[in-house]
Amino acid sequence: MSHLLTISLSSAILVPCVLSLRQLPLSLTKASISSSRNLSMDSSDSQHFQNVVVMRHGDRLDNTEPLWVSTAARPWDPPLADPGKVRAFCTGRKLRSQLGFPIHRVLVSPFLRCVQTASEVISALCAIDDDPVNMTGDGVAIDPSKLKVSIEFGLCEMMSREAIRLELAPKDGNWGFNVSELEAMLPAGTVDTTVERVYQELPQYEEGVPGSRIRYEKVIQALADKFPSENLLLVTHGEGVGVSISAFMKDATVYEVDYCAFSHSRRPIFFGNNESFTAGNFQALTKHGQTGISYYPLSPITNPV
Ligand SMILES: *[C@@H]1O[C@H](CO)[C@@H](O)[C@H](O)[C@H]1NC(C)=O
Ligand SMILES: *[C@@H]1O[C@H](CO)[C@@H](O)[C@H](O)[C@H]1NC(C)=O
Ligand SMILES: *[C@@H]1O[C@H](CO)[C@@H](O)[C@H](O)[C@H]1NC(C)=O
Ligand SMILES: *[C@@H]1O[C@H](CO)[C@@H](O)[C@H](O)[C@H]1NC(C)=O
Repeated sequence: MSHLLTISLSSAILVPCVLSLRQLPLSLTKASISSSRNLSMDSSDSQHFQNVVVMRHGDRLDNTEPLWVSTAARPWDPPLADPGKVRAFCTGRKLRSQLGFPIHRVLVSPFLRCVQTASEVISALCAIDDDPVNMTGDGVAIDPSKLKVSIEFGLCEMMSREAIRLELAPKDGNWGFNVSELEAMLPAGTVDTTVERVYQELPQYEEGVPGSRIRYEKVIQALADKFPSENLLLVTHGEGVGVSISAFMKDATVYEVDYCAFSHSRRPIFFGNNESFTAGNFQALTKHGQTGISYYPLSPITNPV
């Protein structure tokens, strides 16, 4: 995996609600489908799976409006375009109906497009009455007790010129991410301000592409270990989604990640008598092309019988 994967910047305005995203490949055992926050509740079976979904943000405004950067106060941090909000909300709706397990916790990159994406997804996941006419979370009443969300700097964009052009990066090195302002954009009642971040601050600019790939893998693992009894949704950037496949699927090389594409990985986890747990390795279950991620080999190699 020496080349950068292609982050789709297609400006085609899709109506994602009518796209038929095929179902996630789910071959879950009964034990992995937990309807409560406590995966260790099913005492009849001590093995459970912890699920981690890693998702890319929706359509960014500087893609649909190339002139946006010329006047932007923060040209390194574009918001979502309107179709991106629709795509994010509708992807949240699909996660809710198709995953087969609840999301207990959402962790999100501090970049504006990711916070806005997380906000839409959370509205869909927590909507009290899911009315199919609603295409965004605006005005949708939610039950905020369903999940918790917090900002994680370690899920940020690749801090390198391949992802953020040198001339767009802040001259004074101040990226200006204000956590309380970002939290205020998330649906009321869902923010968990007690979470200690894995990355207390942004990685240095020019961490390099290999460096950011190592970071994404470390952060996914660290967050899973931090919340072993919870299923997680990580809202991040294209490269982070790519890493969630290439790190957890043998010999997979990711070459394209669409807006709002998501991967699903899981690991077996065993809880001890006290707070202790033992976990197996993550395995990515997402199939090529099913949820917006394209990778080689295109299908699992099967031996002819
Ligand atoms: C979680 O499961 C443990 C072990 O079965 C139990 O003691 C505890 O009360 C449960 N916690 C919740 C919040 O349900
Ligand atoms: C759908 O959105 C409208 C506002 O656009 C809102 O008034 C309505 O309550 C929403 N429907 C649901 C079921 O939340
Ligand atoms: C973050 O934003 C809040 C609300 O606008 C403001 O009160 C606070 O001073 C800001 N913090 C920093 C470090 O800029
Ligand atoms: C409980 O955890 C401690 C370490 O935190 C460990 O030493 C001990 O063996 C554990 N006890 C059981 C019964 O698992």
